Amino acid sequence: MTNEAPQKIYLADYKPFPFLIDGVELNFDLAPRATRVKSKINFRPNPDSDSREFFLHGENLKLISAKIDGKEISPEVTDLGLTADVPDAPFVFEAVVEISPETNTALEGLYMSGGMYCTQCEAEGFRKITYYPDRPDVMAKFKVRIQGSESVLLSNGNPVEQGEGFAEWHDPWPKPAYLFALVAGNLVAHPDSFTTNSGKEVELNIYVRPGDEGKCAFGMGALKRSMTWDEEVYGREYDLDIFNIVAVDDFNMGAMENKGLNIFNSSCVLASPETATDANFERIEGIIAHEYFHNWTGNRITCRDWFQLCLKEGLTVFRDQQFTSDMRSRAVKRIDDVITLRARQFREDNGPLAHPVRPESFVEINNFYTATVYDKGAEIIGMLKRLVGDENYKRALDLYFERHDGEAATIEDWLKVFEDTTGRDLSQFALWYSQAGTPRLKVSEAFEDGTYILTFKQETPPTPGQPEKDPRVIPIAVGLLNPNGDEVRETCMLEMTEEEQSFRFSGLAAKPIPSILREFSAPVILERETTNAERAFLLAHDTDPFNKWEAGRALAKDTITRMLTDDSTVGSDLLDAISKVLRDDSLDPAFRALVLALPSADDIAQTLFDAGHTPDPSRIHTALETVALSYATHLQDVLPKIYADMHVDGPYSPDAEPAGKRALQGAVLSLLSRLDGGNQARAQFAAADNMTQQLQALACLLRIDRGREQLAAFEEQWKDDRLVMDKWFNLQTALAAPEAAVQTTEALTKHAAFDWKNPNRFRATLGGLTGNMAGFHSPDGSGYRLVADWLIKLDAANPQTTARMSTCFDSWRRYDADRQALIKAELSRILATPKLSRDTTEMVTRILGD
Ligand code: BES
Ligand code: ZN
Repeated sequence: MTNEAPQKIYLADYKPFPFLIDGVELNFDLAPRATRVKSKINFRPNPDSDSREFFLHGENLKLISAKIDGKEISPEVTDLGLTADVPDAPFVFEAVVEISPETNTALEGLYMSGGMYCTQCEAEGFRKITYYPDRPDVMAKFKVRIQGSESVLLSNGNPVEQGEGFAEWHDPWPKPAYLFALVAGNLVAHPDSFTTNSGKEVELNIYVRPGDEGKCAFGMGALKRSMTWDEEVYGREYDLDIFNIVAVDDFNMGAMENKGLNIFNSSCVLASPETATDANFERIEGIIAHEYFHNWTGNRITCRDWFQLCLKEGLTVFRDQQFTSDMRSRAVKRIDDVITLRARQFREDNGPLAHPVRPESFVEINNFYTATVYDKGAEIIGMLKRLVGDENYKRALDLYFERHDGEAATIEDWLKVFEDTTGRDLSQFALWYSQAGTPRLKVSEAFEDGTYILTFKQETPPTPGQPEKDPRVIPIAVGLLNPNGDEVRETCMLEMTEEEQSFRFSGLAAKPIPSILREFSAPVILERETTNAERAFLLAHDTDPFNKWEAGRALAKDTITRMLTDDSTVGSDLLDAISKVLRDDSLDPAFRALVLALPSADDIAQTLFDAGHTPDPSRIHTALETVALSYATHLQDVLPKIYADMHVDGPYSPDAEPAGKRALQGAVLSLLSRLDGGNQARAQFAAADNMTQQLQALACLLRIDRGREQLAAFEEQWKDDRLVMDKWFNLQTALAAPEAAVQTTEALTKHAAFDWKNPNRFRATLGGLTGNMAGFHSPDGSGYRLVADWLIKLDAANPQTTARMSTCFDSWRRYDADRQALIKAELSRILATPKLSRDTTEMVTRILGD
């Protein structure tokens, strides 16, 4: 770790590894501070390489001994790995190293969490376990023997032998080292089984710490639904005798797809009605699906190098989104995904961290597990599917699995299966992978003699290292409505390929109202001069649920931004339109809840900035509060009735339908509590038998600063449940009034239960503050200072989580000169920290820019 110019890796420099591996044997002798790892690796020269240089990655390892073909050697060892002279023929490399899982706070490699051993090897963690070519294009079959006193000893593949104090696992499928996993602990299993389409029995287990057994049933159901869905929709069967999931409390990410042994952040798998919200249940189902789907898109077909990360992540996110939309509501899922895309990916793409979906260089690969790689990566696949059609998409995927099974592939390979299936030239489409930035799509229209002409002009602003962009292929889904609200043209897919292009619709009796970019058919920003009357019309009449919601969102955003730029007030156009939707019983409650929700403060800030204004976080907060109060006042006669109508009878179920009712009920409660001093919320809190309603009520009370008593009761009730206590920490920092947020956060970091080395607790607490825009951006800079202090402290223990959280500063250029100076000072202070990690150094340097 050094603060000086860390080494950059380039896609263009890719070279295959000079050796192939015929088999790996690993032997672990577990001990908290002195685990012995013996390895035996069969290498042979790679005919596709002209080099014979033998370098194995290895970090923080104590080398005990090394041998080649049975003879002791003294390799050259540095901080990064080992080099040795090797024969120009097949040879066996053996090593013994010692590592210390107990002191591994970075949570990469082999580490301990709550007394159990576990691993996290993606992207480059295996090199902290033993010497190895730790790169995804080196694939090998692994045999693992674990010696330890724990009752459960797990690794990848199938179990072959177990006895007192040991277990042996063989994985028949060649895999890269990043998919290796090992777990050892006194765990309990929630068992089940699954019969695949071709009749193969698979044993399933979710392993948890004693006490968590009651929180596994939903995750197990989600796993079985995922296995069935992948067989039905993609024709993909599971390929081992056993599939294990393990829950761990200390985990940097959400979950990891290790072959046959997925490891999950406990927050992403454990759930019971009393402790998990509807949103948690939905996320758990999605992430279990995601990691399971990687078995084919990621594991059987992996990435040639880490620049191809979107090959597995973009595709797998796309697949988990498809799955959730099949399990729940397609319309609601699409709206949720677009909200997330805009909040995270558009923000990234419009700031100093903008990068292509397939980057061309990086310093630390962990910093490129981004919203761009994941979510824009998934959007690209959605566009591809729209362009080639569902049938061709299916044929292309079949060809992809057939052609590349067992390989480490590239984006070129991926696009080639689509070209070969359809005969299309995808070279222009490939720009979506290489060009950063969100295209702006300006729309103008004309109507003459029954012909309606839509003209689009695309432009992508400059991004770091990419001042100029070429026009991209953009699928634009358009439908037309006539002035009385009927659809006169069903959705058609316009294919834009030029910088400026017009499309004609003839035979129309009157000038239509266009519904453009239906289903959000491309990740672009649509810019169109329109009126609030037209937005209200589309909110009432559009047959495309996404654009129907989008019209309401645009109406609300227009109102809020005008309140901030020309002191206008909340108009009846917005209030009446919202009221109509809220009262329309024919609409899905979950959809109505989405229409009622206000845009985020961050969204408003970015919109103001794009329009040439300097956003003021505290005024944005006030404006959003004012609109919420106007909604509440305007709708007050109908709120109690809807609140009552959304009551769900019977035992709690996390299914989409009751969850949708609770979502609407919660949105209504939030408005009601602005009028009734929190009476209804107090009643809901007292009566709640599930976490969704308990947390909704608590949030409503905290927002109006009347939640003290309930906060204490909640803590008392849940003090022994880590995951629920994360919510308790988060809610307070996220919802504190702007003036109180920093102080509240600081006080919570002194709470006995604030375990800063636990990423969930750290993120819940500090992440709550950074998401509380007006609080974080307190004019005196106290929010920036507090967060920087904690990032500096965390960096020494856990660089990966620190670097991720440093992105809270990435929008600093939006704000006024005083705030910019305060943020820059904090970023410089972080950069000046002795021994700052490579991870955080890269992020902060990029955020500061030049
Ligand atoms: N392969 C990743 C986990 C990962 C991420 C490992 C970064 C190492 C570094 C996994 O498949 C993943 O993408 N997990 C996501 C959740 C998913 C539903 C998008 C996560 O952990 O957030
Ligand atoms: Zn993934």
